[in-house]
Amino acid sequence: MNALDQTPASIDAYLKDQEQKTLLRFITCGSVDDGKSTLIGRLLWDSKLLFEDQLATLTSESKRIGTQGGEIDYALLLDGLQAEREQGITIDVAYRFFATDKRKFIVADTPGHEQYTRNMVTGASTADVAIILIDARKGVLTQTQRHSFLASLIGIKHVVVAINKMDLVDYDEQTFNSIVASYIDFAKDLGFESITPIPLSALQGDNVIEPSENTSWYNGPQLLPFLETVEVVKDTLDKPFRMPVQWVNRPNLDFRGFSGTIASGRISVGDGVVEPRSGHQSKIKEIVTFDGNLDTAIAGQAVTLTLEDEIDISRGDMISGLQHRPSSADQFEAKLIWMSEEELLPNRNYIIKLGSASAQARVTSLKHKINVNTLEHTAAKTLSLNEIGVCNFALDKALSFDPYEENRQTGSFILIDRFTNATVGAGVIDFALRRADNIHWQAVDIDKKSRSEQKSQKAAVLWFTGLSGSGKSTIANQLEKKLHAMGKHTYLLDGDNVRHGLNKDLGFTDADRVENIRRVGETAKLFTDAGLITLVSFISPFRSERQMARGLLAEGEFLEIYVDTPLSVCEERDIKGLYAKARAGEIKNFTGIDSDYEVPENAELILDGANLPPEDAADQVIEYLKKHDFI
Ligand code: ADX
Repeated sequence: MNALDQTPASIDAYLKDQEQKTLLRFITCGSVDDGKSTLIGRLLWDSKLLFEDQLATLTSESKRIGTQGGEIDYALLLDGLQAEREQGITIDVAYRFFATDKRKFIVADTPGHEQYTRNMVTGASTADVAIILIDARKGVLTQTQRHSFLASLIGIKHVVVAINKMDLVDYDEQTFNSIVASYIDFAKDLGFESITPIPLSALQGDNVIEPSENTSWYNGPQLLPFLETVEVVKDTLDKPFRMPVQWVNRPNLDFRGFSGTIASGRISVGDGVVEPRSGHQSKIKEIVTFDGNLDTAIAGQAVTLTLEDEIDISRGDMISGLQHRPSSADQFEAKLIWMSEEELLPNRNYIIKLGSASAQARVTSLKHKINVNTLEHTAAKTLSLNEIGVCNFALDKALSFDPYEENRQTGSFILIDRFTNATVGAGVIDFALRRADNIHWQAVDIDKKSRSEQKSQKAAVLWFTGLSGSGKSTIANQLEKKLHAMGKHTYLLDGDNVRHGLNKDLGFTDADRVENIRRVGETAKLFTDAGLITLVSFISPFRSERQMARGLLAEGEFLEIYVDTPLSVCEERDIKGLYAKARAGEIKNFTGIDSDYEVPENAELILDGANLPPEDAADQVIEYLKKHDFI
């Protein structure tokens, strides 16, 4: 039946009908060569939900440019997507909707090549079933293994191994059996609950809808009937209750509700609930929705919950049932899929979004990366686009979550670049790390204020940044002498010096520089806590890490001083002879030559390192410090 030629009355009936059908989300994995487009095209065609004009175009286009000699070329149905793809849209996943008498379907069609790993992961993240296409002539290929691994990583439990192009191997049973055997052997550790192999010819229609006479030896299910009936336990309903709080709804003093979409489980009026981070408990008083109050609400519903007691819950918190609470931790292990052209830098701060919560997060250790083709583990210092790594994460505050294996809704997250706001990674949580559980903050009676008051000064960090040879250290040295002469208590942390001790293990890769700055940032924070005026003289080439260091300190305590000296001047000076070496290729990753320097955008002070004598530059800083009541 065509959706367009309905009378209004029957449209209502039709819509009602659709509403009551269950929805299956699936993903097709394979390349165009495997017949993926033909297969999806045929499913759409046979489910008769193509619109008339699409059908007309298809018939005429097939005659004109089809590859099937005037017969309908189902692949053309999907080729519209190709154009989108070629524009290089960051994450393009085409979702198509179709329905049969029995079920509604959303199919995510993602390109199959390795460079599209992130697309596949995105498309698969809500799928219940993966159809893995294999060309019967080729058997299990590297890409078959990659697709299967990614499907398992993302938590898909049901796999259809669609062994396509059976017509081209004379519908040979042996060929089918041996591909199935090798697939099952490969996939045994991937944790799939069901693997359903089907011998197909998408082009000829064998075993797509009806049993094919060409495969009389086969008595398993056909593809569409299988998709129509496969039991995907909508287990989000049976999971423990979780609702990430999207916002706190407080229209007047008498009403305080927590709004969000229920991620898993169900909740009824009177049920006990807890905010897992604080452990504060209460009971559900009302479940408010647009259409009035409910007694019970289930996963997928958007609701506002009111509680019997006033407990402190804010946006980003989770409301959970009393049993089987989620983990609340600021550290965990996760598998991270890197989605950015710029590599992952461990120890750099990113924004993590987990449910409705966000925080700052960094990878504290990249344990290994997983080769998506062979599943081998290899050591790594960074992740590049489309690579997958097992990482430990540390957050700047505890969040509530579940292991992904237990709950796909509350166990996955994305990482966002703090400056570009681009999504740079997606992750699935393995487990919370409890290492910080038994470490508490020890209260001390003498604090920063008393320490700095005793020194009659205000503690601060004077952070010098600039190219090598820009004059940072010389100015910082002059400045420290002046401060010292004024009776101030100071300490100068200098890049070259700190690299002889604390940071001896670090080189000059981007990743090492990130860690270099993180450590000196933490050190500067301790020295500030000691009440000192701390001068830091590091190239500190990346905005992100300077921002991180600023973030470690209190408002107004961090002064970014950019020593602005053009590269040509630094190179001409070349006091340490390093530019010459870098130009000769003897030193790699030299700042300004083959490693970036990101000019400060929000420095409190800019010193002209080319024209201003260091003595005068130091005086400028002193002036600034006086003017702003630092000294
Ligand atoms: S940072 O980039 O990580 O902040 P840092 O300030 O600690 O650098 O160290 C910079 C000093 O190391 C330079 O002044 C220079 O003397 C020396 N150095 C050696 N190799 C390099 C390099 N590849 N790039 C920059 N500086 C280098």
